[in-house]
Amino acid sequence: MAKITTAVLQKMKQQGDKITSLTAYDASFAKLFADEGVEVLLIGDSLGMVLQGHGDTLPVTVQDIAYHTRCVRAGAPDAFVIADLPFMSYASTEQAFASVTPLMQAGANMVKLEGGDFLLPTVKALTERGVPVCGHLGLTPQSVHLFGGYKVQGRSNEQADAMLRQAKALQEAGAQLLVLECIPVELANRITAALSIPVIGIGAGAGTDGQVLVMHDLLGISSGYIPKFSKNFLQQTGEIRSAIRQFVADVKNQSFPAAEHTFQ
Ligand code: KIV
Ligand code: NA
Repeated sequence: MAKITTAVLQKMKQQGDKITSLTAYDASFAKLFADEGVEVLLIGDSLGMVLQGHGDTLPVTVQDIAYHTRCVRAGAPDAFVIADLPFMSYASTEQAFASVTPLMQAGANMVKLEGGDFLLPTVKALTERGVPVCGHLGLTPQSVHLFGGYKVQGRSNEQADAMLRQAKALQEAGAQLLVLECIPVELANRITAALSIPVIGIGAGAGTDGQVLVMHDLLGISSGYIPKFSKNFLQQTGEIRSAIRQFVADVKNQSFPAAEHTFQ
């Protein structure tokens, strides 16, 4: 795979070539995903659930993400690697400076943070210092206790308008990528059309510029609850490499996500 950069992802959006992304936490899966053409590997704080066995992402630390980022980078030297900033590691801009340092030094190309308006000065400050930023709006799992559960976001007109405004503001502040999680397909399409940066969806329909899944959901090995928007690709293919190949093909030709994985 040629080296994936922000410029490559930007060009993919312009050409309508769908971006594929999976979470990855170790070198072996990272290599396999990159070999099968997955452009973006995310060291998600979902590792608190799928690796550490917690009920939510809140216990994850910057050191945890840095460790797994090093593992992923070792397996996939040319992939575009995004490291999640965990819960409360970017509550202030100063904290964000301290938190991104070990992640970028571990080999991340970009950091991802959850939220809108309160983050605008932080996104600007990080970008000015050479740290690329991915926004994350919609169902932001670090706020699960505020939401009162893992629920679809942006259903009311006011919520939808506010999310569109925040997405534009994040782009304006310097964000070069945006993840939208668990929102109605119409809203995801509106935001994708309004932004010049690529938008990667999870539970946001097939109209975004790309798709991301938690690897354990794709392989059907998540313990407990499997979200409606995810799909077990291993069940239909019977082999891990074929499952990844199928995911990439289905995202590229827009047969995944289908209507059954989407919120109206
Ligand atoms: O932590 C994670 O895996 C994520 C993705 C689901 C977008 O943030
Ligand atoms: Na995350």
